[in-house]
Amino acid sequence: MSEVVLRGIRKSFGNIEILHGIDLDIKDGEFVVFVGPSGCGKSTLLRAIAGLEDITSGELFIGGKHCNDIPPSKRGVAMVFQSYALYPHMTVAENMAFGLKLAGMDKHQMKEAVDRAAKILRIEPLMERKPKELSGGQRQRVAIGRAIVRKPEVFLFDEPLSNLDAALRVQMRIEITKLHRDLSSTMIYVTHDQVEAMTLADRIVVLSYGNVEQVGSPLELYHHPRNLFVAGFIGSPKMNFIEGKLVAASDESATVQLADGSMIVTAVDAREGVPGAKVTVGIRPEHWAFDTSGNTLSGEVIAVEHLGEATMLYLQAQGALEPLVVRADATHDAKVGEKISVHLPPGRCYLFNEAGAAFRRVKTE
Ligand SMILES: Nc1ncnc2c1ncn2[C@@H]1O[C@H](COP(=O)(O)OP(=O)(O)OP(=O)(O)O)[C@@H](O)[C@H]1O
Ligand SMILES: [Mg+2]
Repeated sequence: MSEVVLRGIRKSFGNIEILHGIDLDIKDGEFVVFVGPSGCGKSTLLRAIAGLEDITSGELFIGGKHCNDIPPSKRGVAMVFQSYALYPHMTVAENMAFGLKLAGMDKHQMKEAVDRAAKILRIEPLMERKPKELSGGQRQRVAIGRAIVRKPEVFLFDEPLSNLDAALRVQMRIEITKLHRDLSSTMIYVTHDQVEAMTLADRIVVLSYGNVEQVGSPLELYHHPRNLFVAGFIGSPKMNFIEGKLVAASDESATVQLADGSMIVTAVDAREGVPGAKVTVGIRPEHWAFDTSGNTLSGEVIAVEHLGEATMLYLQAQGALEPLVVRADATHDAKVGEKISVHLPPGRCYLFNEAGAAFRRVKTE
């Protein structure tokens, strides 16, 4: 069993606290992805699990074993970093075997472990090459191979694909999914890439300033973000936010007056909302509609991007904190400078109170 349990993990560098008490239960065989803005503590948390950083306070258990004081090599974890850091003078096979050799494994067992990993990663024909004779994706596979040979119970990945080009990332993402299926080890993966997070994760952990904001399946986070931070972080392009004032509230809808005077109905349980209070309406770029009247917002088109499969419109509207992003059909023919109205389907809207907490959505159209 290789579940990973974090209880009140705190980490300070000098007198600056970076992690403020992280609680997390990662199940055996689960694929968990950490996301969050740069500097929020993702790598620090991963390194603390690996044992590469001491924990200031709190408790860490791996496979039921209290690990705070266990050295990294005895924790049953292997970490794959963003920079592959392969030894340039060694062949692929030697690079993969290096850690095992240091650990004193006999030659026969070592070869068996390396061959098995090479087969899983489909790098058998590359075994006698030096790192400089490999592509980025192949090097990253060797770095993963170096982790696999150690037969860890838990794999830790810190942005392993961020040095690769877009096509290779897609290919490696699929490889990692397959690897998880084949090895069924627990995997903890840090990424900045929304698509990687959404497609790889059983559960995503959203971090901000060393705190956990929300933990949930990718679709839970997409449909039911707990607060403005998570709502703005999950989804790309990000959710649009429009400030307004709550004018009517019930257990199945809330009516919000926007800065331009327009009234927007949202399908949320707003029993706790106070009429007159400041609120924020959220709607994702992919959820606006054009063919319905009412519940609309007007804005001036300030930019149009034709992506081939869709057209992205950027609108300047009163009350919107940033230009609104609207994903429209590929054939949409709006022109810069034009004033247009866009419809907000009530069931597609999110609503947040002044403190940023989300009202529960009562349906998702
Ligand atoms: N060894 C260190 N000494 C002092 N401060 C550190 C050290 N390592 C990290 N920090 C600080 O801790 C904070 C969290 O860093 P961390 O590397 O965990 O962020 P991250 O979420 O991985 O960011 P990124 O997405 O940019 O990789 C940052 O403010 C960083 O400056
Ligand atoms: Mg990092």
